[in-house]
Amino acid sequence: MIFSQHRNKSQLITFTALLFILFILLAGCQEQPEETAVSIPTSSANPPTDIAEAANSEAAEETRPYLNPTLAPAERAADLLNQMTLAEKIGQMTLVEKNSIIEENITELAIGALLSGGGGYPADNNPAAWLEMVNGYQAYALETRLAIPLLYGVDAVHGHSNVEGAVLFPHNIALGATRNANLVQEIGRVTALETAATGIFWNYAPTITVPQDIRWGRTYEGYSENTELVTELGQAYLIGLQGDDLTAVDSIIGTAKHFLGDGGTTWGTSTTDDYQIDQGDTQVNEATLRAVHLPPYIAAIDAGARSVMISFSSWNGTKMHEQQYLITDVLKGELGFTGFVVSDWAGIDQVDSNYYEAVVAAINAGIDMNMVPGKYTIFIDALTAAVENGDVPQARIDDAVRRILTVKFELGLFERPFADESLLQTVGSDAHRELARQAVRESLVLLHHDGATLPIDRGTAVIFVAGEGADDIGIQSGGWSIEWQGREGNITPGTTILEGIENTISANTQLNYNRFGNFERITDDSGNPLMADVGIVVVGERPYAEGQGDSNNLTLTEPELNAIERIRARSQKLVVIVLSGRPIIITELLPTADALVAAWLPGTEGSGITDVLFGDYEFTGKLSYTWPRSMDQLPFDFANLPTEGCAAPLFPFGYGLTTSESSSLPDC
Ligand code: GLC
Repeated sequence: MIFSQHRNKSQLITFTALLFILFILLAGCQEQPEETAVSIPTSSANPPTDIAEAANSEAAEETRPYLNPTLAPAERAADLLNQMTLAEKIGQMTLVEKNSIIEENITELAIGALLSGGGGYPADNNPAAWLEMVNGYQAYALETRLAIPLLYGVDAVHGHSNVEGAVLFPHNIALGATRNANLVQEIGRVTALETAATGIFWNYAPTITVPQDIRWGRTYEGYSENTELVTELGQAYLIGLQGDDLTAVDSIIGTAKHFLGDGGTTWGTSTTDDYQIDQGDTQVNEATLRAVHLPPYIAAIDAGARSVMISFSSWNGTKMHEQQYLITDVLKGELGFTGFVVSDWAGIDQVDSNYYEAVVAAINAGIDMNMVPGKYTIFIDALTAAVENGDVPQARIDDAVRRILTVKFELGLFERPFADESLLQTVGSDAHRELARQAVRESLVLLHHDGATLPIDRGTAVIFVAGEGADDIGIQSGGWSIEWQGREGNITPGTTILEGIENTISANTQLNYNRFGNFERITDDSGNPLMADVGIVVVGERPYAEGQGDSNNLTLTEPELNAIERIRARSQKLVVIVLSGRPIIITELLPTADALVAAWLPGTEGSGITDVLFGDYEFTGKLSYTWPRSMDQLPFDFANLPTEGCAAPLFPFGYGLTTSESSSLPDC
């Protein structure tokens, strides 16, 4: 270092003093930290001293720039960041599950975000109780030194689907069959309204996965196997969800998930629990990864995505949660994503058995916020140690916090940390239910038809109905409905298929329902077994979510096959309705059915099905997933898919009849 000779005395003194300070600072940075075990505090009752000290030293400030709403979010974030202690910064990077949080810790540790996982409802599960719960947590956040509002997140993946009384829309597989981007955008808008009404301004949706193997338990969360369709509908949903003005009381931020390649994993590669394909390994080259799975993210970023969630899965053996190339170089660099990246549920834990090393790898890879979700003090201590040890650069922390704060300013959270309570009355409104009913109608795919059975005349004399799914809101809603895995039964207000039939038929129609298809005791005036003019049987899958739905046996159960056989014997015409989160094996069923409808997972508005069955609306749905003839055909090789003969799928992508069309039975 060459210094000019002409410096005068005072400058020399100053210069010497500066050198001394510089030496102290450098000495502090260069000391080689001994390996520090992550200390696990027995309690976080005593907040980190630097927050307390900072609070004491803080003189009453005139309005700081970060509190000035006329300034740009990035400017406000920069000002706020400059005032924050390391503890406050790491608090912003910590996303805690609400059942794990000690409320006082929100204030003491400056926690920046909370979530309700699937089923994370308050004791009384109703919209007002949700609002009260979220407001309660927010109040603790506003008690912090800098009063940075909490961001509360939830999986409102088919409507605000954890909340009793909210409208549950058809799952994404059904929306894919509608091919209606405008409808999907409107569903995003209504979902934002019902979610914001409860004080929640962050939705972990849309899932823009491109499922390539329908044995995956998350197939139904995807719009389609087709990249272009996922790209179009995922973008439409996000635009609807975020609205024209993120600061509006009914706008919330979406989350493009799960980055990257969550739907391309190989069967048998999962290392999580007894999962088979969920959270597995996506074994494709980069060109394929980019061609199949990346376009939906490009479109989501173009549409203003403000958060991206990282996938549990791996790419060619490396966990996505430590994929620095894809997260930092591609997502943030090449694609220019300026929002924040959030881990999935304890996804960082899967990176390395040594939690300290896992935290270092994941945060350095570009993850900005850790969905911990429970052991938050351990995470905070690990990341604090990592920064102090120099294993995670301060600049990485600042980049993460700057991104998080910028989004909070963009959302207007500092000006409006609480919901507009007038929105509460819109949750579950008739208008919202009508939109969901339209989505159900447009999602139905007529797979097989004799050309005459449908539409059913509402004046039909005798109708029999069978199947457990015919009168069960829980079954017709599927996973991510009130509970994480969903649940059979009357889980939330809505209309079952049976109720839809009851509301449609004429007063003179005799309707008999038996979930097992037992109609022995139904006789005519002469005491002979009564034959139904039309039988309707509802079969399919029971609710599941994530890897618990991984299955290599997508066939109907014995009880369901028996119910079909029984009602077949007592019906002139038989309509089969399949409720499922993916195509299932129904090849052998076709000769028995006069009509067969894929109804997917329609949610709370079952009347959408009867609207079409009884002819008020035509079938318009088209398959967004290829339908297999047998399990042997899976996984499909989409690049080389036969189009005819027994090697061809049962029904191709894009297939769907109208009631004026008929289909022949398959040869094999
Ligand atoms: C889950 C899912 C993710 C969801 C998150 C929070 O494990 O993978 O899609 O958003 O946890 O519930």
